[in-house]
Amino acid sequence: AKERHYDWEISYQHKSPDCFEKLAVTVNGEAPGPTIYATQGDTVVVTVHNKLETENTAIHWHGIRQIDTPWADGVAGVTQCPILPGETFTYKFVVDRAGTYMYHAHYGMQRVAGLNGMIVVAVPEGVRQPFTYDEEHTILLEDWWHKSVYDQATGLFAKPFVFVGKTYLLRIGSLTSLSSLSFEIEGHLMTVVEADGHYVRPFVVRNLFIYSGETYSVLVKADQDPRRNYWATSHIVGRNPKTPSGKAIVSYAGNNPWKTPPTAPTSGPPWNNTAIRVEQSRAIVAHPGYVVPAPARADRTLLLLNTQNNINGHIKWTINGVSLHFPVTPYLVSMKRGLTTAYDQRPPLDTYDHIGHDISAPAPTNGTIGSPVYRLAFDSVVDVVLQNSNALNNMSETHPWHLHGHDFWVLGHGDGKFDPAADTWRLLNVKDPIMKNTVPLHPDGWTAIRFHANNPGVWLFHCHVEAHVFMGMGVVFEEGVERAPGPTICATQGDTVVITVHNKLET
Ligand code: C2O
Ligand code: CU
Repeated sequence: AKERHYDWEISYQHKSPDCFEKLAVTVNGEAPGPTIYATQGDTVVVTVHNKLETENTAIHWHGIRQIDTPWADGVAGVTQCPILPGETFTYKFVVDRAGTYMYHAHYGMQRVAGLNGMIVVAVPEGVRQPFTYDEEHTILLEDWWHKSVYDQATGLFAKPFVFVGKTYLLRIGSLTSLSSLSFEIEGHLMTVVEADGHYVRPFVVRNLFIYSGETYSVLVKADQDPRRNYWATSHIVGRNPKTPSGKAIVSYAGNNPWKTPPTAPTSGPPWNNTAIRVEQSRAIVAHPGYVVPAPARADRTLLLLNTQNNINGHIKWTINGVSLHFPVTPYLVSMKRGLTTAYDQRPPLDTYDHIGHDISAPAPTNGTIGSPVYRLAFDSVVDVVLQNSNALNNMSETHPWHLHGHDFWVLGHGDGKFDPAADTWRLLNVKDPIMKNTVPLHPDGWTAIRFHANNPGVWLFHCHVEAHVFMGMGVVFEEGVERAPGPTICATQGDTVVITVHNKLET
């Protein structure tokens, strides 16, 4: 295994991917940033210099589990202090599993401003994948906002990619700030083979639904009329699109790659058809040769209800009544040092009023703002059932949930309210569930996941819609923090660092 070193300067630059110039947060002048290519087992070392002048930053390696490196997870307020302007911070971690991953800022709402990119981890030499292809491309889908939420463009930007008559592996990642997308290539079917770094039982789609935080690899055979070009499009689903779709041109070698296809861009599936999206979510199961069996049962079950609330005049999202506010001192620092005033000591609730609560109405009560933490027994198996409900506008939205530090088994997606007393449990898939790090919670429904709390550290679990986590839609898990390696020292140039060392080694 190799060590791969990157030296990054984070700065504001003018960018105009769609001919509208605006300031973007860039990595060495690029937005999106450079793709990190590595091989399974490699160590990635990224030295980040914050040259933003007036803004802090922190970078998260989305989908990398950070086994034994909890300090490198890059979440300001949870695993590190933000990197102050002028400061340098070095991330060092092992990419322990092949697949498609991403990175992005995890400070405030900086992700949407351009600080993001892809991580491609190849299988070690000599290891075969359960599919073959000739060449690969990466596609990162994001939203590009000119000004505000009302003026939002989405998707691909018009970069042509060129096909010859081969089979391509497209590694597609979504880091949209808000939108759920449907991606398609006119006239070409796609075979889904990988999701979030795990091989899936291959299935064929005309359009791929992809939610913020997810990655998929699809195989596309370039077997159509090579004399013309085709549209690749990404359409907003789950909410009524007010903005243009993302477009790109797929060109066969020999054509002018900028020549507009002779047909109109595909219009995509109806934005409000939830059923077809749930159906695709359910089609994603583990590849028969790569099933990681889920433990038969959990030691603890968390039933997490999201509601939108008005707390003292501010619109917030809450989970079981609490809107997450990141403490100034990161949880990991507080816990390693035994500081008990930096976060809420009172544990959050494991469940909500699942009998009385009406999910088809806005929340009847207000919640609170706080910084609590679920302390999980180390090595225990935890089930989380995410329960959707209507927001204040009386609509139910899609929320893609992402877990840091782990992959989880996706046990099921259901409509309506999950009833823990009934035999809903019987419907869950423990036979060949896919493992993922991000999963959608569909409108008016529930999603059940299971994970093994065996990675010492403190881990954020949150909705990947940037504005939602900003408004409190997340929870924090701690497991085996006493086994985590010691704290990094957070300081600013000029600070005095005083370390008192007690030698308790005995011998
Ligand atoms: Cu890509 Cu905490 O997220
Ligand atoms: Cu959300």
